[in-house]
Amino acid sequence: MKKNIKIGLCGLGTVGAGVATLLQKNAQIIQTRTGLDINIVQAATIDPYDHLDVDFSNIKVTDSVDDILNNPEIDVMVELIGGTGIAKKIVLDAFDKGKSVVTANKALLAKHSQEIFSAAYGSKGLFGYEASVGGGIPIIRNIREGFSGDKIDGFSGIINGTGNYILSAMTNERTDFKTALKQAQDKGYAEADPTFDIEGIDTAHKVIILMELAFNALFDFDQLYIEGITGIEPIDIDLADELGYRIKLLGKALNTERGFEGRVHPALVKKDSMLASVQGAFNAISVFGNFVGHTMSYGAGAGSFPTASAVVADIIEIGRVLSIDGANSVQPLGVPFERLKKMEIIPVEEIETEYYLRFNIKNNNQLPPEIENILSKNHVNIQQELKSNQTDAENSTSFVLITQTAKEKDVRESLKIINSLPFMASPIKLIRVDP
Ligand code: HSE
Repeated sequence: MKKNIKIGLCGLGTVGAGVATLLQKNAQIIQTRTGLDINIVQAATIDPYDHLDVDFSNIKVTDSVDDILNNPEIDVMVELIGGTGIAKKIVLDAFDKGKSVVTANKALLAKHSQEIFSAAYGSKGLFGYEASVGGGIPIIRNIREGFSGDKIDGFSGIINGTGNYILSAMTNERTDFKTALKQAQDKGYAEADPTFDIEGIDTAHKVIILMELAFNALFDFDQLYIEGITGIEPIDIDLADELGYRIKLLGKALNTERGFEGRVHPALVKKDSMLASVQGAFNAISVFGNFVGHTMSYGAGAGSFPTASAVVADIIEIGRVLSIDGANSVQPLGVPFERLKKMEIIPVEEIETEYYLRFNIKNNNQLPPEIENILSKNHVNIQQELKSNQTDAENSTSFVLITQTAKEKDVRESLKIINSLPFMASPIKLIRVDP
């Protein structure tokens, strides 16, 4: 029976440092709980590491990941470098050598799911990727194991801590976008390239992973509709507030009669909903199963220690299986690989939801009646209307209409016509409403 689990850690950045710290600080509790001694024996980094609160006396540090890949004593490769370059090589090579792999790399899993999961299923090594979605929230296990008897109809959630931090700061403290982003970066929440956070790409990576787990299929990342939060202006936050909503960056997927929906975009959520109360870098994911109903998982969605918690949970699970010389009874995506068919995501034009439409009208105290006429002709009906009491420097005024549920293609068709009318001061702002 194997009792010593030897870890090779690739990357000593925000998450890697958290993993090294956790494994040393909680070594005793992990030993007591599992009977396992789990130690990092080798770490690869090109960054300085001597400032970390980690005892390196028993860890060989190298600047080459090949040293770790070629070290036969290592049981588990922990890939925390990120991105789809060297990280991909590490993961594939490790599986090829029969080592187990733990990663937090959502971009790699989303963009190369077929290749990575095919290697994982084909390897005698085990695979953990809990930290790739939701930081410290065990959402992968919830879906794969907790709801394994349910048909999953969909999920919707806030799964980017940086985006939620920025929107919360803009809403609660009136912080401007740039300052809020800088704060999120300083706290270690943002990606190396923060455009991934603010343009919705990081959320989209996580949506693909959750869709594959929830719907037992493989999806093409490029078919997802992705819209970030850079277009959200303070006036939209204010008007949404007056109408009873908060603006959140949502990742959402549904298994509908029309096909699979998958999308990332800012959305208005009712102020009294659970998602509206999620603040700062916290994440919350609601999963809907046909027997369990609606569930909500909540916790720290980014940051060193919460993400390290998820990485270490995967290491421990692998350690437990290795310690009994067993095979993991749970397949990486919860189904045999040959059952994972490639499925299509329907175009966003096919979805139906409610819409917040903001019209910026030149020199007019009233919303011109043409607007509602054009919308109505295109089967888009209105449920709420609001006039802003602010007038901008060009003397134009914003009006908001909240539609009833409508087809996105009908809404887009109407907006194309309305945008060309002479009284429009700027293009219409469209934000979907999450009913
Ligand atoms: N940049 C990511 C976020 C890190 O802000 O959610 C966690 O995946």
